Amino acid sequence: MASRRPYVGGNWKMNLDRNGAVALCRDLAQETLTLDAIQIAIFPAFVHLDAAHATLALAKSNVMLGAQDVYPEPDGAFTGEISIAMVQDFGANHVLVGHSERRHVIGEPEPLIRQKTRALIEAGMTCVLCIGETLDQRESGDTNAINESQLRSALRNLTIDDPQRLVIAYEPVWAIGTGRTATPDDAQDAHKHIRAVLADLFDENTANAIRIIYGGSVKPDNAAELFSQPDIDGGLIGGASLKPNDFLSICTAAQETSRAEGVST
Ligand code: 13P
Repeated sequence: MASRRPYVGGNWKMNLDRNGAVALCRDLAQETLTLDAIQIAIFPAFVHLDAAHATLALAKSNVMLGAQDVYPEPDGAFTGEISIAMVQDFGANHVLVGHSERRHVIGEPEPLIRQKTRALIEAGMTCVLCIGETLDQRESGDTNAINESQLRSALRNLTIDDPQRLVIAYEPVWAIGTGRTATPDDAQDAHKHIRAVLADLFDENTANAIRIIYGGSVKPDNAAELFSQPDIDGGLIGGASLKPNDFLSICTAAQETSRAEGVST
């Protein structure tokens, strides 16, 4: 895994009430203090960011806070949208962009994903750009082509000064919330191709420094094998991130993989 620090994100999606979000933050804050070889971020719903921030700060937690989306414009007449400055104000420094549920359920178009990615990088935020193919696309043998076109579209003409602030989440749509996971070999193949595209878009050193994480039914019993692949630098976790013990086991698997591979922290 070269010297990339593993990244584990918990995407809480549209789940939990305020008390549930605070309780989960409390559990995670206590149990993650020794997981210092990895970067952990949680992505609660917007309305829970304030409470999550306060809870993590009180516990002096290393867990980073993220938002599930933002709008690229700084302010103005965009009813229902939330700006980058607004989420920063609530202590969120990481943001998901282009999640498959936004692409396929909400219908978010690629030009908007590109604008969001650019705005986040320019604001110095950590942008977790999500890409991945549908089942039909996989069955037609188009996995790499789809990943490549989503990457090239979102990252077009982008310059990045700090490769730590761009994380690519490869999430095959058919594996999200279904209990079906890409095999470690299939995921590794996709990640390797993604890294080659990043090298073409930026340069070899930058591509080698960008974390590429896997998402789609990651669980405690498959995390270690996925994370031990050379181009898989952690995971983006949905359902299992709502269960503190499961999420902590997955984080521990990432920490152990990084220790085994001698990642400097
Ligand atoms: P699951 O882990 O529930 O499959 O969700 C993955 C995901 O969409 C994370 O963003």
